[in-house]
Amino acid sequence: MKNKIIVTGGCGYIGSHTVIELLESNFEVVIFDDLSNSTEKTIDRISQITGKTPQFVKVDLKNETETDRVFTAHKDALAVIHFAAHKAVGESVKEPLKYYQNNFYSLINSLNSQLKNNITNFIFSSSATVYGLPKTLPITEKNKTKRPFSPYGNTKKVSEEILEDLTKSNPDFTAISLRYFNPIGAHESGLIGELPTGIPNNLMPYVTQTAAGIREKLMIYGNDYPTKDGTPIRDYIHVVDLAKAHVLSVKRLVNKEQEKSFEYFNLGTGIGYSVLDIIKTFEKVTNSKLNYEITSRREGDVPKLYAATKLATKKLGWTPKRELNEMISSSWKWEQNVRKEQK
Ligand code: WQD
Repeated sequence: MKNKIIVTGGCGYIGSHTVIELLESNFEVVIFDDLSNSTEKTIDRISQITGKTPQFVKVDLKNETETDRVFTAHKDALAVIHFAAHKAVGESVKEPLKYYQNNFYSLINSLNSQLKNNITNFIFSSSATVYGLPKTLPITEKNKTKRPFSPYGNTKKVSEEILEDLTKSNPDFTAISLRYFNPIGAHESGLIGELPTGIPNNLMPYVTQTAAGIREKLMIYGNDYPTKDGTPIRDYIHVVDLAKAHVLSVKRLVNKEQEKSFEYFNLGTGIGYSVLDIIKTFEKVTNSKLNYEITSRREGDVPKLYAATKLATKKLGWTPKRELNEMISSSWKWEQNVRKEQK
């Protein structure tokens, strides 16, 4: 029985956690990854955790010929989950063309190769950043998408528009876009997790690297927002809960349960935490003091973002289970393991 899933960017942070959930749900997995922001060692760790080894193909999806070759070699796949993209917000502002080229070429080449090989199910890794500055909270899927402030965010919004158009012109082609709020945490084994290249853009890896002594101090970007403690509020979601939503999305498409050829779902907990909440919880969970300082606001940050999660629960049968303590303790366990390894 066919049960192969292609995971592009499957050596990355969310991709690798999703590969684990797919293998543990008895899917066969083949990873396409160019290793530009990940390491092949992740494959061994996935095998260590699951006792199963996904196939791995090193490929640059910006190259049309290479992409066609690898998709044709795996034309028996049931679905594709597409994580392959650059995702550092700050870098995208400095180098927009690098982001537009990489994220759009990879997406369009993959979609073309899928159509040629009649692989008709597609799951897209998107982001709450497509909502821009929301007028109402919590954010539901009915909120209008707006031009995100960063080129990275804009690649996500335009990619969704490409999927909208493609599923209209090819009704047999079905797609689900998953709009992540703030993914943090790591697999309980401590063997895989977020491994940002260079200075972390995101809060959680910066917190754990500061605690590990890699960074001297965490700068809090502003405490003059209209929130309970002045620092911005976000909807943090455990990466394992996020990964499980991808498996449910694959099943929805493979079992032809989708109601429209293009659907999108928010993936968050519906609970908002401030930056200071994260820091205080980190200090409590790790019984340590974090070195931080308040500085000025970061360009493009919004005061509050948190999700309405009813639709994903209703349509995917998905409910996030992991609380903030587990998100933070698993991030810290991963950080300690990475440092141990690098010694
Ligand atoms: C969270 C809060 C910062 C770092 C982005 C993308 C989104 C998704 C997640 C990929 C904010 C504050 C941060 C620091 C800080 N990316 N902060 N000091 O900006 O909500 O979302 O990452 O899928 O698409 O937009 O996440 O972790 O960068 O910031 O004070 O050193 O932490 O101001 O309030 P963000 P973040």
